[in-house]
Amino acid sequence: MDGPAQRKENLNSGPPGLTAAQRSNFAPLTARAYTAWRQRSLGLLAGRPFGLEREAALFMGLCQPRPGEWWLDAGTSTGYYAALLAETGCHVLAVDLSPAMLAEAARQNPQHRDGGHVGGHIDWAVMNVERNDLPDGRFDGVTVGATLNETNDPARFLRGAARVLCPGGQLWLMYLRRTGGPLQRLLSVPVLGGLTFPDPAWVAAQLPECVLVHGLSVGAVRFERYVKSCVTSL
Ligand SMILES: C[S@@+](CC[C@H](N)C(=O)[O-])C[C@H]1O[C@@H](n2cnc3c(N)ncnc32)[C@H](O)[C@@H]1O
Repeated sequence: MDGPAQRKENLNSGPPGLTAAQRSNFAPLTARAYTAWRQRSLGLLAGRPFGLEREAALFMGLCQPRPGEWWLDAGTSTGYYAALLAETGCHVLAVDLSPAMLAEAARQNPQHRDGGHVGGHIDWAVMNVERNDLPDGRFDGVTVGATLNETNDPARFLRGAARVLCPGGQLWLMYLRRTGGPLQRLLSVPVLGGLTFPDPAWVAAQLPECVLVHGLSVGAVRFERYVKSCVTSL
């Protein structure tokens, strides 16, 4: 059984078997600072102006979520995609490894607790998407905003996200694609983050039951919309 010191360690850095990047999200300070970073991050990472409004317009324009749909926001942090979906009237299960992130997300989004004026709502839950036991085909859509880069097992994460989609369901990915630069190599070192920078072709190969419908690269930032096939092989 964990002693008090071990329990404190788990609270701030999470369970064992996570990447350093995943563990960094357990610190309450990271959670409090995350939203400010998120507002600027895509512009910095893409190397050109790219604000949250443009990201929202891209996602909403391509995925066109509809009121009453069920969406999973996989690695929600402070709930950027979850809030967009709830404001459209969708029911969202917003999950994250980090209780600190979810506490901050709930604090920032009180209006979505019991259904807003358009009827959407968000449930926040601690979950590792790489090991999720959600029912097959439960969701109309899954959003993955930069979570893929942090995962310990990105192939398993993608399989877990695709499995819970219903036939015809949408998978929205935003991630940093492989560019092979020195910074990416540095951040891939386990103690410096253990980040993964996947190649889009590798991502597609992990999703055999899905079809890539839209793909867009803005510098290193990659947006993809997959749709799960309605026909499964016999
Ligand atoms: C880069 S942040 C992105 C947050 C959010 N999707 C957005 O677009 O702003 C990644 C988040 O995913 C969470 N995360 C990483 N791996 C995860 C996993 N296997 N299961 C659930 N959450 C995960 C982290 O705790 C972190 O809060």
